[in-house]
Amino acid sequence: NHYAVIMAGGIGSRFWPFSRTNHPKQFHDVLGKGRSMLQDTVARFESVCPPENIYIVTNRDYYQLVKNQLPFLEDDQILLEPVGRNTAPCVAYACYKIASRNPEGNVVVAPADHVITRPDEFVRTIETGLAATAEQDILLTLGIKPSRPDTGYGYIQYLNGEAGSEIKKVKTFTEKPELEMAKEFLASGDFVWNAGIFLFNVKAILKSFEQHLPDVAEIFEEGNEDYYQEDEQHFVTKAYSQCKNISLDYGIMEKAENVYTLLSDFGWSDLGTWKSLYELSDKNGDRNVVDGNVMLYDTEGCIVKSSKDRLLVVQGLKDYIVAEYDGVVMICHKDEEQRVKQFVADAKEKQ
Ligand code: GDD
Ligand code: MG
Repeated sequence: NHYAVIMAGGIGSRFWPFSRTNHPKQFHDVLGKGRSMLQDTVARFESVCPPENIYIVTNRDYYQLVKNQLPFLEDDQILLEPVGRNTAPCVAYACYKIASRNPEGNVVVAPADHVITRPDEFVRTIETGLAATAEQDILLTLGIKPSRPDTGYGYIQYLNGEAGSEIKKVKTFTEKPELEMAKEFLASGDFVWNAGIFLFNVKAILKSFEQHLPDVAEIFEEGNEDYYQEDEQHFVTKAYSQCKNISLDYGIMEKAENVYTLLSDFGWSDLGTWKSLYELSDKNGDRNVVDGNVMLYDTEGCIVKSSKDRLLVVQGLKDYIVAEYDGVVMICHKDEEQRVKQFVADAKEKQ
């Protein structure tokens, strides 16, 4: 009854210009492993569920990319969205579809753009989690020990219940707090980061949609077996045109009572931004991270990435991101990287 749903529809705009709407980061080999982040993510679930129970949810534009990277998938396992409406509709689509086939389905939902350095421990954790969600109607998150007051994550405050159990009842779930609040959470010591990986049986998550996002539930409930089998794309186009844009975190996790967290430690990072890539990568003597065709002088603490057909020469920079890809060069201070999203928006206007 185990299923994996992989969310691969984001455009990864904080990773611009490397991540582009026509080729977002999850389809790139960001870490130079010889396979894309999506392929890496799917490989981690190989021992968790049978290959026919792996579903990818992505934008229609990326159908061919998914097909090329994961040729073993049947078309039916590639769920195509006409537009991105964030993670709540994405999870609703997948879970209503799974429920229509197997009401006993027990699902792990995971992003396609995370780095996990201890895959064996990851698999053990997922198996522990799925064993719990098979028995109980809970929404299980994975809790990661926080290391900095990052405002890009969800923060989970848990109750220290039963000694020995790794699964804790969640007291509060706060998605993307302000910096001051994140600092307080970190200092208090009883918060963990939400890893963005969720486990639940389909009955439990459908019930949560009905309770907390009834309009979304209503839209996807209509997709009974007939719709899915005969004219899924038609149904989905209509569904997404009616559906609001909201993340699972804001829409359900912050509100639900039956949220739990499994304390986890499998070398997790969300490769969300340039700085996170910098931190994860091997550095040379001057703390630079270099990828591609690059020459550096008097430069330190930088991440410099170029595509194969360009030579990038950098002199005298400290703590900068220098990234060249597909006709765009971006030079931005590492501490200002949250502005990348704005650059992307402004660049769109210019074109
Ligand atoms: N199919 C599909 N459709 N996928 C989507 C969509 C969509 O509309 N929007 C986002 N995704 C995918 C992204 O590609 C990513 O893999 C995943 O869903 C999560 O979306 P993000 O946009 O990266 O979320 P986040 O990083 O801001 O926050 C989430 O993850 C954090 C940990 O990395 C939250 O769950 C936080 O609470 C959590 O701490
Ligand atoms: Mg993310």
